[in-house]
Order: sequence, then C-alpha cells, then structure tokens
Amino acid sequence: MATQEITEDMIFQCFAAAQQSKDIHRTAESFVDVEEYENQVMYPEFARWAEKAGYSELASLFRKVAGEEKLHAVWLRELYTEMGVPTRGEDTRRAIDALKTIRANCDALIAMNPDSVVEKALKVAIMVEEREALRIYPQFREQALAEGNERAADVYQKVVESESEHAQWFHTALRDFQANSRVATA
Ligand SMILES: [Fe+2]
Ligand SMILES: [Fe+2]
Repeated sequence: MATQEITEDMIFQCFAAAQQSKDIHRTAESFVDVEEYENQVMYPEFARWAEKAGYSELASLFRKVAGEEKLHAVWLRELYTEMGVPTRGEDTRRAIDALKTIRANCDALIAMNPDSVVEKALKVAIMVEEREALRIYPQFREQALAEGNERAADVYQKVVESESEHAQWFHTALRDFQANSRVATA
C-alpha cells in the first residue's frame, strides 16, 4: 500500500476558510469567520492531533490560542455591529462541514506518523499567525486610519499584537518540538 504523506499545504487548504475580496471591507468582514473557524475548527483539531500524538502540553497551547481567537471574533463583531456591517457565519459552517470529511483521513495520517503531522500543524499555525500579524490586520489598520476611523484602527492594532504573540508562542513551541522530537525531522 502506498504511504500517503500529509503536506503543510494540505493542512492549510483544509482550513482555508477566508474569502479574500477586492473590497477590503468585505475581507475584513470575512475575518470574523476566520477568527471563528480558528476558534471552533482549526485549533481544536490541532489540539486533538497533538493529544493523540502524546503531546498534551502542545495540545494545551493550541486550546489556549483557540480561546483567544474567540476573543478576536468578539472584538471584530462588536466593531462591525457599531459600523453597521452584518455578521456572517457561512464560512465557519463550511469549514466545520469540511472537517467532518477530512477527519478520518487525518486520523489515518496521524496513526502513520504522528510527529510529522504535529510538526506540520505547528508550521501551518505559524504561517496563519504571521499572515495575520504582519499582513492582514496591519492592512486593515492602515485602511481604517486612512479613513479616519481610529476606533477600528485601535481594534485592529489590538489584534495585531495578539496575533504576533501567537506567532511567537508557536515559534518557541516548534523549536522545542524539533529539539525533543522522537523522530528526526526533514
Ligand atoms: Fe485571531
Ligand atoms: Fe491568532
């Protein structure tokens, strides 16, 4: 039987719920969903993988970050309610449905090489957090400032700081993981 190898790209695609729109406001709006799916789908699933692979401390870190992503969704939803932008939920729903179909596949891959899957989940987490900390939210903040909306700029800045912290935590976790991993990493 051919051995299937899960790639970072496969994991990233599994969890890519965000809809990037040409209109920055629509993109910003869809990030309520991104935060929700990180809270409800992506990080709980990464925590489940880490737990299954025997890394309970790492599972706790994924759950801690999941909790903070919920907070981001709350901040953004508050902001958009004030600004009169309707909240949406279809993307999160779609991600939850997709997860049901990939879960069995993920479990089979974890059984084959748990450390490799956990390491890749960490790399995806870093990619997601850095994308938000360095590109997405700074862009939303700049746009808000250009429009004189300081309240929105403050909210985005708060998210930037939190996402930067998440990226740092995952970098440290990856370093520790690679130093202590039971198998040599490629
Ligand atoms: Fe977030
Ligand atoms: Fe985050």
